[in-house]
Formats: sequence, C-alpha cells, structure tokens
Amino acid sequence: MCGIVGIVGSRSAAPVLMDGLARLEYRGYDSAGLAVLDPRAKKIKILRAAGKLRNLAALLEENPLAGSVGIGHTRWATHGPPSEENAHPHKFGRVVVVHNGILENHAQLRKQLEKRGHQFSSQTDTEVFAHLIDLECQGRRPLELAVARALKKVKGTYALAVLCDHQPDRMVVARKASPLVVGLGEGENMVASDVPALLAQTRDFIFLEDEELALLTANKVKIQTLSGKPVKRDAKRVNWSPLMAEKGGHKHFMHKEIHEQPRALADTLTGRLMADHTDVRLDSVALGARAWKGFNRIVIVACGTSWHAGLVGKFLIEGLARMPVEVDLASEFRYRKPLIGPKDLVVAISQSGETADTLAALQEAKRLGAQVLSICNVLESSIPRASDHVLYTHAGPEIGVASTKAFLTQIATLLLLAVRIGRARSMLSAEQARKHLNALAAAPEQLESLLNQEAKIKQVARAYAGARDFLYIARGINYPIALEGALKLKEISYIHAEGYPAGEMKHGPIALIDEHVPIVAVATRNSSYDKLLSNLAEVKARGGRVIAIVNPRDRRVKTIADHVLTVPRTLETVEPMLNVLPLQLLAYHVADFNGTDVDQPRNLAKSVTVE
Ligand code: AGP
Repeated sequence: MCGIVGIVGSRSAAPVLMDGLARLEYRGYDSAGLAVLDPRAKKIKILRAAGKLRNLAALLEENPLAGSVGIGHTRWATHGPPSEENAHPHKFGRVVVVHNGILENHAQLRKQLEKRGHQFSSQTDTEVFAHLIDLECQGRRPLELAVARALKKVKGTYALAVLCDHQPDRMVVARKASPLVVGLGEGENMVASDVPALLAQTRDFIFLEDEELALLTANKVKIQTLSGKPVKRDAKRVNWSPLMAEKGGHKHFMHKEIHEQPRALADTLTGRLMADHTDVRLDSVALGARAWKGFNRIVIVACGTSWHAGLVGKFLIEGLARMPVEVDLASEFRYRKPLIGPKDLVVAISQSGETADTLAALQEAKRLGAQVLSICNVLESSIPRASDHVLYTHAGPEIGVASTKAFLTQIATLLLLAVRIGRARSMLSAEQARKHLNALAAAPEQLESLLNQEAKIKQVARAYAGARDFLYIARGINYPIALEGALKLKEISYIHAEGYPAGEMKHGPIALIDEHVPIVAVATRNSSYDKLLSNLAEVKARGGRVIAIVNPRDRRVKTIADHVLTVPRTLETVEPMLNVLPLQLLAYHVADFNGTDVDQPRNLAKSVTVE
C-alpha cells in the first residue's frame, strides 16, 4: 500500500526520492508527492500529483527541487479520493509529514483543531499529524520531542516521516504497526517503508520497532521510545542485491519472478536438507521432538496466495506427519472466536510479513496461549517479529503484485516442516523422508526445464485471451493449485476465474460449461488421476474446451483435452510446485495479450496493511 522514502544528507535529495518511490510503486498507489527542504529559502517545497509517478516526474522537471533533505510518498487512498490535495506530503505551519497507516481518532482531533481556528486543506487523516506536530513545535522545541508529544494524542497505526522548516538538519520518523526501515549511508541517512526502496543506496538497515521514534541527521541516527527512553539497536546487513529488485531485461517483474523460481527454490532449500536427505534442519525453530509431540494440532492462518500455500501445507503435514491441520483465512480467524490454546501451533504464512489480517490473527492466537511459527519472505518484517519461531523463505524481493516465487517457496518450506514434524513424531521413516526430500531436491532442475515450454503456453494464452470466464479444476493436493491458477488469472487479467475441486463440478458449476468457458485442469498422474479423468470426460461431454496440465507420455488426457501442457513427473508431495508454474505463465501471457498493468493491477496493493 502507501510507500515512504526520505533522506538527510548532502547530495541532491529529489533523484534519490524519485528512485525510491519508483521502487515502491509495486506496493500499489494512486498519487504521489515529494517535499524537499530548500536550504537557501529555509522553506520546504512540495510537489504532488494524482495518478502515476510519471505525472510527478513531469512536475519535477518543470519545477526542480534543490536541497539535500527530503521525503517522498506514494499514496493508496483510504480517507478522501486520490487527488492532488489528498496526496502526501501534507504541510501545516512549519511542519511537513508523510504517513502510512490509519489515524483512527482523526475526526475527533480534527474537530478540536478546527475549534482552535485550524483550517484543513485535504480530506486525509494524515493532515491532522501536521497540525498536531506544528502545535507541539512551539518555542524551539526539538522536532523529535514535538513528534513524540503529538503521537501521544493519536490512536491508530502509522509509519511517519516529518520535516520542519525551522530545523533543516533533521528528519524524524516513527512507527506503530506500519513498517519503516532506516537505511545507513556515508554522511547520509535514509528511511523507507521497505528495504527494496533503498537497495540502490545501502544494504545496512536498522529495523524500527512499534512505538519507536528515530531522529535522523546526515551523520547520526538516534532511536528512542515514544516516552523518550533511548534505544540501542545494531544495524543489519541485508543480502539482497540491488539487481534483485530490478527487471533485468524482463518486460515485467512478474515474468522475471516466475523465471527466478528454480533459483528461489534452491536458495530456500540451501542448508536445510541433511546430507543423506533423511531429515531437515530448521535451525530457527527451537522445537525439539518432545515439543513436536506435545502439540495436538496445527492451525495455519494466511490470506490470498499464502492461504493457498497453507491449503497445500494441510495435505503435506497431515499426510507426512499425521498431525491434524486446520487452515483459516486470517481475515476471518479472529471474528469467529477460534478455539485455540497452548496445545496448538499456529503457523502464519505471509510473503510480505506485513499483512494486517495475518498479523491480527497471529496476535489473537498468542493471546489465546498458542505458540506461533511464521513462514515469511521479508526479513524483520512485522509478522516474523511477532512470532515465536520463524522460517524464512529465500525467494528474494518479490515486486510484482501477483505472488509467484514466494508461493512456490512457501510450499517448499511447508514440505520441509512436514518432514521435520513427521520425523520428530516418528510418523515418517528415514527412508520415506529420503524419498520426499530427493524429489524436492530435484525440483529446481525440473522447474528450469518447465520454463522452456513458455512458447507453447504463450500460444495457448493467445487462443484464450478473449475468454470472459475460466474454470480451474483439480483434485487432492492440486486443488489449491487450481485456486491459485484462478486467482493469478483474475488479479492480473481481470477475467473472471474460479477454482474448483473437480469432484464438485457435478454439484453445481457444471451448469456453467459451454464452448465459451475454458476449463484448465491439473491432470498429472497421481492418486486422483483416474477420478479426475472421469470429471474431465463429464466436462468434455458438455462442450467445454479443456487445457490440461499432464505428465510426459500421457495418452489418456490427450484424447479428451484440446491442449496439453506437460510438466515433469515427480512425487505427489512435490507436484504443486511444478504444476503451478504453467498456470502462472498462462495467467501472465493472457494478461499481457490483453495489455493490463501486470505488475500493478488495478485496485491491488502488494502489502495489504489495512484490514
Ligand atoms: C497474491 O497474488 C495476492 N496479491 C495476494 O492474495 C497476497 O497473497 C495476499 O495479500 C497475502 O499477502 P502476504 O503473503 O504478503 O501476506
């Protein structure tokens, strides 16, 4: 959702801010703005534009901003429509702010301020911050103190960066439930809502905790709690390279990220498989055999694509570790009074680590006494920090709004977890574990070979790019892959698509089938193969056009399907990781043929930080 970037240094701020904002575009936004402190005039100048960043860039070209201290913002509208006056930064008096999050008591504060004669120039909740902080800036009070005092009056969530005309050497930043990282440079310090925004400038970061505030000058970063207690926190070096957050010759980030999957999977497995493949090593999970035997149940909470990974996880953990698993949509979890207790392990899955619903579900689980293990792709993000145990996926930065490589590595991590639990609970023999881990270790190479089929997948995409509805069907462990294929297609191409367990077709959805509705079927040769074939025959008998994912040398599906896309044969537990790739490419090429904004589809944001 919204993005923040800021710098205090000695070089020109505007290009750094524009570069950072461009790297934050993927989060989703509908307007953008910059504020730079003009050292000669001792005044902060602001430029804002509705729409894409190119509008702001054009404005900046006509009105260059000189100065080495500045903040920038991409806004995803919550309070007030996307427009120039609602775009951040917001200024009142001497103070300029950019903000991510939601100020819950803004209406009440606004009323109080209006009574004191304050006039507002936007409909946003954020502008209230500028008014409150300016009031607290009276009498040469240092900006950090003014911000801390103002923040005591607000309720809600924030990541905030603040400048003041009268204190040109500094920027003050603060966070509560919205991500904010401080980037350290030589003679300059920076802030951003996530690491990729600053990767071109630095790889050394300090991660702020909730209700902490930092004072940034060119040569120092001073962190304190809102109540003024100094905080000592070491910087961490991030091993993501700037190139990882660039397109590297691909037309879209999503395309690049689909192609990165063999590497992402290999990286996620590195150091985790025992040499003889009879078990896995999960160093960041401090749970021994006794602890694993002590849990009665696993409850997985996640949203969207991560929820689909959780559904695959249920098959894996129940199948290999014989432990009951429930999978909940995080957005529903805490509203149904969940029956959770200390005997449950709650597994929160999230690419971004910032999804508000997943974070809230995790907090509810902890409140009810459960231990929480998170599976996450973003180092030091909110979800892993709130968890008792963390398994990081090593997919590298995922920029495209449609999640691809993160999904694949989440499933791989769940398979590792399933093996570990199975071994710890003595439900999986060394020999059985070896079978699954051998198949998993072979998957990166198989994915590589699958990518060679892109030309064929593109042909199929071209043939069906005009369809208005798609159905995706599969059975068993591949049913979540049908859901994921449908989600990928709808989010980036805006074509209606639904995923169904194939056996459910005759209980309703088969009524939809005619020659205009393509059916995408995952029909690999596994334990539900024969059943799926019967479901396909039923579809075909009603005039449906079938695109099937099959294994090499499959003759039976070929007699039914209109198109087949071949994936290498593997064990059923590894199938979802291979089967999803052609579905990702199919969705990608359909969207690309239709000319949609693949990386930033309408109405969507990469990290959904509001409920
Ligand atoms: C995936 O393509 C979606 N954009 C979305 O469903 C996403 O998976 C969901 O918002 C959860 O995000 P998270 O994994 O970062 O928590």
